[in-house]
Amino acid sequence: MKILVTGGAGYIGSHTVVELLNAGHEVVVLDNFSNSNESVLNSMEQITQKSFSFIRGDVQDKDLLKKIFEQEQIEAVIHFAGFKAVGESVLNPLKYYENNLFSTICLLEVMNLFHVKKLVFSSSATVYGNPSKLPIFEDSSLSTTNPYGTTKLMIEQILRDMVVADATWSIVLLRYFNPIGAHESGLIGENPNGIPNNLMPYIVKVANQELPQLQVFGNDYDTKDGTGVRDYIHVVDLALGHVAAIDYVKRYQGVEAINLGTGHGYSVLDLVHSFESVNHISIPYQIVPRRPGDIASCYADVTKAQKLLNWKAQKDINMMCKDAYHYLEVQKKQNH
Ligand code: NAD
Ligand code: UFG
Repeated sequence: MKILVTGGAGYIGSHTVVELLNAGHEVVVLDNFSNSNESVLNSMEQITQKSFSFIRGDVQDKDLLKKIFEQEQIEAVIHFAGFKAVGESVLNPLKYYENNLFSTICLLEVMNLFHVKKLVFSSSATVYGNPSKLPIFEDSSLSTTNPYGTTKLMIEQILRDMVVADATWSIVLLRYFNPIGAHESGLIGENPNGIPNNLMPYIVKVANQELPQLQVFGNDYDTKDGTGVRDYIHVVDLALGHVAAIDYVKRYQGVEAINLGTGHGYSVLDLVHSFESVNHISIPYQIVPRRPGDIASCYADVTKAQKLLNWKAQKDINMMCKDAYHYLEVQKKQNH
């Protein structure tokens, strides 16, 4: 199939483009590099030895979208483009409502115009708020605690409304748990600028001695060692989940929300110890107070993904830690 991938130069998008190309799909990437770098395009071609079309531009540019749909025979869209920093969304909510909602609405209007009605959307486990029961099933209650999460929930609702209005749409809402790790080549991965908000990029910067120590946000949660528990998933497994979702939208109509996680919960200290042991490196840490807004535990029930997508995460926590560090080492070598 020919697939438009918005935000395809980003962390999850780049890994997904690689797996789509590996699976024999044709890909058109649209990205404005607001949170990514042009160099990733070469890396994606280097990994796959395949080429794809790239357009630098904004999903909010409807004329550009129309041009893309006119020129390319797009059959389905994977929509990654959007802002994702929780803290920034609290400080600057309009930036998030504008980019995340408006780009989705522009995209849907143009898809409608060109009768392209197959869509895979990047949602998030953040739509479950503070879950009352674990593991989290797709029909658990939904709520959000920050504007970023609210954009995801609002977009899910918009997409459900689209299907009510026109039953020929086929939409999968993929609710990601905590993607970490990198492609095993070390050529693409996650490298946020400045001080990372998320755990794995922070650990990697400590391993690289760019930051002195990890701050563990609280050890008094009701979890096995008191630190927060999350469902970390290897980004390549997540990417393969999108390939499976594309296959699904090809065959079925309607809208489905599907969790993409491993179904296992690991604590902050589990991740630290696993990183230390597979990479033979010490990660100094200090326990500090809880981060406001954090929840104790979050992990997925993954039976729906297995049943509908015939997909299951394969890579364990050690591979996630190994590949995250390998990416750093490869980047360091390339920059020297
Ligand atoms: P990312 O920031 O690395 O990738 C997003 C890409 O979209 C970037 O390359 C950015 O330049 C581009 N972009 C943003 N706005 C754009 C616009 N208006 N037009 C064109 N390009 C635009 O983020 P990611 O981690 O790859 O996340 C991808 C998607 O998955 C996002 O929608 C995010 O909210 C969602 N998600 C991410 C996580 C996570 O932990 N990484 C978890 C759940 C959901
Ligand atoms: N943590 C630390 N120290 C840090 C960073 C994080 O102890 O420096 C802890 C957190 O308290 C939490 C765990 O590590 O217990 C994971 O935190 P992350 O920030 O890596 O991830 P979150 O689960 O808080 O949030 C992520 C994404 C959200 C998304 C959510 C659910 O950042 O966008 O997963 O998918 F909504």
